[in-house]
Amino acid sequence: MSNAVVLGLQWGDEGKGKVIDLLSGSVDVVVRCQGGANAGHTVVVDGKKTILHLLPSGALHEGARCVIGNGVVVDPLALQSELADLDEAGVNLRPRLSVSDRAHLVLPYHKALDAAREAARGAGKVGTTLRGIGPTYQHKMARTGLRCGQVCDSESFRVALSKQVDAANQELAALGADTLALDTVLSEAMPACEAMAPMVCDTAAIVHEAVAADKRLMFEGAQGVLLDIDFGTYPYVTSSNTGIGGVITGSGASHKDVGEVIGIVKAYTTRVGEGPFVTELDEVAGKELRDRGGEYGATTGRPRRCGWLDLVITSFACRLNGVDTIALTKLDVLSSGDDIDICVAYELDGARIDAPPASVEDLARAKPVYEKLQGWSEDITGCRNFEDLPVAAQEYVQYIEQQTGVKVGYIGVGPDREQTICR
Ligand code: IMP
Repeated sequence: MSNAVVLGLQWGDEGKGKVIDLLSGSVDVVVRCQGGANAGHTVVVDGKKTILHLLPSGALHEGARCVIGNGVVVDPLALQSELADLDEAGVNLRPRLSVSDRAHLVLPYHKALDAAREAARGAGKVGTTLRGIGPTYQHKMARTGLRCGQVCDSESFRVALSKQVDAANQELAALGADTLALDTVLSEAMPACEAMAPMVCDTAAIVHEAVAADKRLMFEGAQGVLLDIDFGTYPYVTSSNTGIGGVITGSGASHKDVGEVIGIVKAYTTRVGEGPFVTELDEVAGKELRDRGGEYGATTGRPRRCGWLDLVITSFACRLNGVDTIALTKLDVLSSGDDIDICVAYELDGARIDAPPASVEDLARAKPVYEKLQGWSEDITGCRNFEDLPVAAQEYVQYIEQQTGVKVGYIGVGPDREQTICR
């Protein structure tokens, strides 16, 4: 079995956690490459649900070494609370968790800045998760950020942190937000940073050693390709590269070593936060799908916007990332008996287009061109073979393969690890 990359091909929340957990049973090293505690990866094992934000979804497999790579932005407080949650579940991850010394730190002032900037944007807000992600990546690019490696020297870190709090307070005051007391930031952040310090190391070296030893690696994407800072629906995106590029720059792996690219596609589409969504359903139909699919944010609890599967964005995401295999999730949610619309192109100003335009204003004006496929009403949650699925469900899967040119290798028919058809 080769190495693998798992990427979300929509706007996040495609069900990556379940697929990564399923596939990481035979994996030696699981690597998170970008994003931070904005992610919410839900893993259900034997009916027990665990939501991971910052930690790799391989955490629940005892044999897997877990790596938080250099491209991730690490909130040490969130990390401690997630590790404590796992302790309660009987899993002590610390001995097999490594955090990159090059990863940037999300500190309390990043979260305060995220909230103050969103408030200042008013109606033009992005709808961020308020986890401090954008301000942290901004400081990284401005070359003023603090990195995990610095926490190993508490005294100099304390001095650097004090300077950053001063700078952040100037912006917070200018935005009319409350400023932060340095003592409070230090007393909150320092214990969490010190607890993290023993896990901090050169994680690119772990990746290189694993490759050299022919170990099996899994690179875990967070969010989805349409939230990518370059190819997503800018500015309604997150602040990292959520595709294959982010995997390479965020882990230190060579492009030759990432292996099979598995793209996760939910059988319909959801989005949280603001931004255009061509196949979004109206209030009533959207709510019905949301309730059937339990579509509420794993990180923020926000209700997700729901709509039909959009093959324009999915095919675009496949092309951008060289996707080898699609894992189609939540197919069981469509078992309502009604016909199913599937978007195969957009119509923009009278012309048919088959790729999302760069401008969000254009995307907001684009109309979906639908094909109508026959639905099914049978309960498919017990199906374990493709042939067990009703013919209409098989045809839905085959239609996706035909339109994207990518094989659907996995089909999710329920939340549990076992409720998966592997083809
Ligand atoms: P941020 O990443 O918190 O800055 O949020 C930017 C945009 O990405 C917002 O629309 C968020 O709702 C969205 N977003 C961030 N992380 C996730 C995720 O894990 N799943 C779905 N949407 C996300």
